[in-house]
Amino acid sequence: MKFLTIALLVLLSVSASLAGNCFETTGYRTNFTATGFNAILPSTNGVPLSFFEAGTINVDFVQQQMAVTFDILTADSQVLGQLYAFAANKTMYVVNIDANGATCTQLPLNVPIPTAFPNVTADLGPVNIGKFQTEVLEIIENGSRQQVLYDLQNCAIVSSYMINDPSQAPGVTTVNFLNFENAPAPISLPSICTNPSMSVRSNRHTQKSTAKTPKSIQQLLRPYF
Ligand SMILES: *[C@@H]1O[C@H](CO)[C@@H](O)[C@H](O)[C@H]1NC(C)=O
Ligand SMILES: *[C@@H]1O[C@H](CO)[C@@H](O)[C@H](O)[C@H]1NC(C)=O
Ligand SMILES: *[C@@H]1O[C@H](CO)[C@@H](O)[C@H](O)[C@H]1NC(C)=O
Ligand SMILES: *[C@@H]1O[C@H](CO)[C@@H](O)[C@H](O)[C@H]1NC(C)=O
Repeated sequence: MKFLTIALLVLLSVSASLAGNCFETTGYRTNFTATGFNAILPSTNGVPLSFFEAGTINVDFVQQQMAVTFDILTADSQVLGQLYAFAANKTMYVVNIDANGATCTQLPLNVPIPTAFPNVTADLGPVNIGKFQTEVLEIIENGSRQQVLYDLQNCAIVSSYMINDPSQAPGVTTVNFLNFENAPAPISLPSICTNPSMSVRSNRHTQKSTAKTPKSIQQLLRPYF
């Protein structure tokens, strides 16, 4: 009985610290590396994709802004760029960098910016990554299952393992979060997107765009959307 009470107290304090300290933040920023094998992304209409992506994410839940830098490798391409999204004016800017230089494309923002961290479906208990203790938090959304290794001491996402919805072909994505900070940083557009003499292309009225957007928007961030 005594042990049960202690166990309950520990559980309660874990959920309290999760809710109270860690998850009540105005956003987060982090570097990341993501590796996907046969990952099914919302944008690819069920077509599996294998890729490696490295970059940074900065999400402001309150001001509803987001900035992402990405470097995506797939079997036949490398895509470098940045994305800036503002819910207030429903606009996003995609900077693509290639051999011809950088271009900034203005697009309508058609994805919501998260207002909070996703709800944790289950706390699966502790696990060590190396010898470093993390808590395994499970997040189930729309059939897709994600296990997040979370550092409760420092309020930091450490790593995430996502599997495709079981109704689809098997596929996984693993993401490591580097230098995670449990707060957003200020977001402003780079000059290439603000200087009218630069190559800002506006695709506000066309649905189809040649702008390359990060996989992270679709997969890595999916539970955070
Ligand atoms: C994090 O991203 C920034 C900006 O791209 C980069 O300068 C820095 O080296 C990265 N840090 C790590 C640890 O990857
Ligand atoms: C949208 O808002 C951002 C941030 O305030 C601003 O930099 C950008 O110029 C705005 N774009 C449009 C089309 O209003
Ligand atoms: C998370 O839980 C809260 C409280 O139960 C609920 O209001 C909210 O809609 C949930 N969010 C999602 C994305 O399910
Ligand atoms: C879940 O599925 C519903 C219906 O298909 C969709 O409207 C919603 O955006 C999805 N949510 C996420 C987080 O993918």
